[in-house]
Amino acid sequence: MNDMTKIEGAIEMNDMKISAKGVQVYYGDTHAIKDVSVEIEDKTVTAFIGPSGCGKSTFLRCLNRMNDTIDICRVEGDILLDGEDIYDKRVDPVQLRAKVGMVFQKPNPFPKSIYDNIAYGPRIHGLAKNKADLDDIVEKSLRRGAIWDEVKDRLHAPGTGLSGGQQQRLCIARAVATEPEVLLMDEPCSALDPIATAQVEELIDELRQSYSVVIVTHSMQQAARVSQKTAFFHLGNLVEYDDTTKIFTNPEDPRTESYITGRIG
Ligand SMILES: Nc1ncnc2c1ncn2[C@@H]1O[C@H](COP(=O)(O)OP(=O)(O)O)[C@@H](O)[C@H]1O
Ligand SMILES: [Mg+2]
Repeated sequence: MNDMTKIEGAIEMNDMKISAKGVQVYYGDTHAIKDVSVEIEDKTVTAFIGPSGCGKSTFLRCLNRMNDTIDICRVEGDILLDGEDIYDKRVDPVQLRAKVGMVFQKPNPFPKSIYDNIAYGPRIHGLAKNKADLDDIVEKSLRRGAIWDEVKDRLHAPGTGLSGGQQQRLCIARAVATEPEVLLMDEPCSALDPIATAQVEELIDELRQSYSVVIVTHSMQQAARVSQKTAFFHLGNLVEYDDTTKIFTNPEDPRTESYITGRIG
C-alpha cells in the first residue's frame, strides 16, 4: 500500500496494474476499439462484457500484444504495465506474454504430456535450475490450477487426454507456471459444462489473491459471480466501467442498462 492510502486511513485501495490511455485499434479500415482508457487493478477480477463483436477480445489482446500476431491489426495509444509502456520497442513480446498470461476460449493443451505442458514455459524462460526445481514448479502450478490431485498419478500421460474442464485448468496451470502478474481469459468457460464452469470460476476467485485477472465473458451471470470490476463495451466504445455490483444494480449509462436487462445484445 502506498503512502497516500495510509494517510487516507481506512480506505482500502488496490494498486493499479494496467493503465490504458486513448487506445484505438484498427483492422485495416475497421475501427474496432475507439479511444478506450481504463485502469485495471491488481488482485482483482475485472470482467469485460458486451454484445458479440463489440471489441472485448480485441481489447483484451492489446494487454499482452497478442494483436501483434494479426497482420492487419494496428494499435494506437498507451498501455502501461506497472507504469512501463508495453509497446515500447525494447519490450520483448515473448517476455511480456510470460508476465501477462492468456487462457483461451477453447482449451488448447500442447500435444505433449501433462508434465511437459507445464514445464514448457519455465524451460524456455530458464526458471528452473535443475530437474528437482522443475518438478517443484510443475507441482506448484498444477496445484494453483486446482488440478494436481486429478493428474498427479499420470503426469506423463498426454494433456489432450483430459476432459474439457481438466484441460482448461491445465491451461490455467500452464499460464501460471511462468509466474505471471496478470492473467487474461477470453471466455474461458464457454466450451465447458456447468460443473467444469463452476470449478474454473472457483479457481478464478482463488487466483485473484495472487494476480490481476481480466476475463471476457458473454455471460452476465458469470461476470456478476466472479468479478469485482466490470467494463461494458458497445460498438468499440468502453461505455461504462465500475464496481460490478454498481454495473448490475444501478448503471449510469442507458446502453449499459439496456444490455443488462436484455434489451440489446
Ligand atoms: N482478426 C480480425 N481481423 C479483422 N477484423 C477483426 C478481427 N478480429 C476481430 N475483428 C473485428 O473487430 C471487431 C471486434 O471484434 P472482437 O474483438 O472479436 O469482439 P468480441 O470479442 O466483443 O466479440 C468486430 O467488428 C470484428 O469483426
Ligand atoms: Mg471475443
